[in-house]
Amino acid sequence: MTIYDHVLTEGGFVDQNDLRYPFEERGLQFGDGIYEVIRVYNGTSYLIQEHVERLYRSAAAVKINVPFSKEDMYHKMEELLHKNGIDGDAKIYLQITRGSAPRDHVFPLNTNANLYAYVKDLPRPEAFLREGVSAVTQEDVRWDWCYIKSLNLLPNVLAKQAAKEQNCYEAILHKQGEVTECSSSNIYLVKDGSVYTHPAKKNILHGCVRMRVEAFCSEEGVSFIEQAFQVEDIWNADEVFLSSSTSEVMPVIQVDGKQVGNGVPGTVTRTLQKKYEEDAKLSADASLFSSEVAAE
Ligand code: PDD
Repeated sequence: MTIYDHVLTEGGFVDQNDLRYPFEERGLQFGDGIYEVIRVYNGTSYLIQEHVERLYRSAAAVKINVPFSKEDMYHKMEELLHKNGIDGDAKIYLQITRGSAPRDHVFPLNTNANLYAYVKDLPRPEAFLREGVSAVTQEDVRWDWCYIKSLNLLPNVLAKQAAKEQNCYEAILHKQGEVTECSSSNIYLVKDGSVYTHPAKKNILHGCVRMRVEAFCSEEGVSFIEQAFQVEDIWNADEVFLSSSTSEVMPVIQVDGKQVGNGVPGTVTRTLQKKYEEDAKLSADASLFSSEVAAE
């Protein structure tokens, strides 16, 4: 998958081959930084405002100075897509660390943040979106401040690897049986036509797509109930789905080897998937579900 040449840094645009960091870089040594993954469809970013807002919230929470104003950041993201001539489906990866300085846990003095943002091709996960995915459950061993999109992703990496080793797409995380979110997505359960998900407290990431899912539910008259559910509730659920900028609204049809609901993507999930496509302004040609609508 192509990574495009023009990379945005705190000092302006550089060629990806010219990007060099010293050994003593706080993102590398401490995971002392924050990031965002922004979806791009047909060369246009989706939910950019929500991502930029969250980036600044994460930065404030860990006392990192973002090198650009918010307004500037939007323009730079547009410029990044434009300079690289992006017209297809892609993602922007944007990270900011506390900077390069001799290794010391204490914040360095007079050190500027390091920023880089690049664009990489990313097709939609079409087969998974149509057919649904499997997941495993894993104990959530992360810290209490998961609302910060921090670079410290080791527990998430380990959970996702456990899923992969069982041929699954995602790991559903729980604290003593109470489901929080997934290793890189938010999770929802559908029961009797209502959508349940963990409240947007400090111990989960407040997903940009999650915010849209809440709005889609309200537009469709579906109750969106911010109430944590238990792993065992999954076995009585009608549907389960997850959401993220890369996974969109993704049906989950099997968990820990057991079928969820009827074992196929459910009607509430399908409705939200179609809402997502409309919201992201995916044309009818690009829709994975319009033929189903026509067939109904
Ligand atoms: N992950 N929860 C976690 C732990 C995540 O890492 C993500 C995003 C989400 C969904 O957030 P959003 O809807 O804003 O994408 C929830 C990104 C895609 C990643 O790390 O690759």
